[in-house]
Amino acid sequence: MTRNLPKAELHVHLEGTATPDLVRRLARRNGMATPDGLFRDDGTFAWDGFLDFLKTYDAAAATIRTEEDYRDVTYEYLVACAAEGAIYVEVMSSPDHAAQAGLSYQGHVEGIARGIEDARAETGMEGRCIVTCVRHFGVERALEVARLTARHPHPLVTGFGMGGDEAGYPPAQFAEVYRIAREEAGLACTTHAGEWGPPEQIRKALELPVTRLGHGVRSVEDPALVEEIAARGIVLEVCPTSNVATGIYDGYAAHPLPTLMAAGVKVTLNSDDPPYFATTIGREYEIASREFGLSDELLLGLTRTALEAAFVDEGTRARLLERLAAE
Ligand code: ADE
Ligand code: ZN
Repeated sequence: MTRNLPKAELHVHLEGTATPDLVRRLARRNGMATPDGLFRDDGTFAWDGFLDFLKTYDAAAATIRTEEDYRDVTYEYLVACAAEGAIYVEVMSSPDHAAQAGLSYQGHVEGIARGIEDARAETGMEGRCIVTCVRHFGVERALEVARLTARHPHPLVTGFGMGGDEAGYPPAQFAEVYRIAREEAGLACTTHAGEWGPPEQIRKALELPVTRLGHGVRSVEDPALVEEIAARGIVLEVCPTSNVATGIYDGYAAHPLPTLMAAGVKVTLNSDDPPYFATTIGREYEIASREFGLSDELLLGLTRTALEAAFVDEGTRARLLERLAAE
């Protein structure tokens, strides 16, 4: 059983953590009808294929409208993670989704920060926020998101990332976006790459100022690229159940996590959009134990890798690593 192992998560989309129950509560309190077709008969989110998933995600995210909503989504997610043994979680937020719901950048950051602080006060867990742009909203929007991070720094916003549809939006288009986030805002950087995109896209993503990659699993199709990722110490934020649920791999047996680990690539375990994929961070550790045969010692090593790659100041990192050693 992995229940008592200390865990850390680096890759989860905050808007994608809101459960059907929370989405219904938010819709009610904001006086909205829940969008037609959002749920299946069994109450889970309805989607079929990755692009449809992104649409359902957008519809559910539209119920998160106020600073208080962002606080509640963050707080409820982090407290649930702490109950599964998480000691550190980075949540990816999307100012574009907040803006579409009528909320300012600062409002969404303040809500998230309160959620992190309230969860810390209650559980002792630590959290940070990675502000993300959405590649299929285009380069102009992404530039604006990067500029917002530079204009409105916040101590709990420590990272910059990019999600969305990889197809048709190659990483090179976003070089200036990442320059602003890294040099002007001083943020640590990651980007989704090699979830759907081929190895060539991962190579291009590695020209951005990133220390980690979201997914990166399709690197396994190019052994020289795997070698480069291992040699550079780039950390892959791997989300096994997400990849199986969206159909990138037929099942866990086809998932490349064990191959990447055997090649010396640093990996971490993550839930991505937990209620959409019927998972949690605790379940990802359990699956890694059951499906990939990882020992508790190896799983603790993945938590250590996540803390070593976390977007935190060195004092916080040292405290988290001490806590890991003590548990
Ligand atoms: N946004 C939310 N979930 C995502 C995923 N798995 N890939 C890319 N963008 C996303
Ligand atoms: Zn993701």
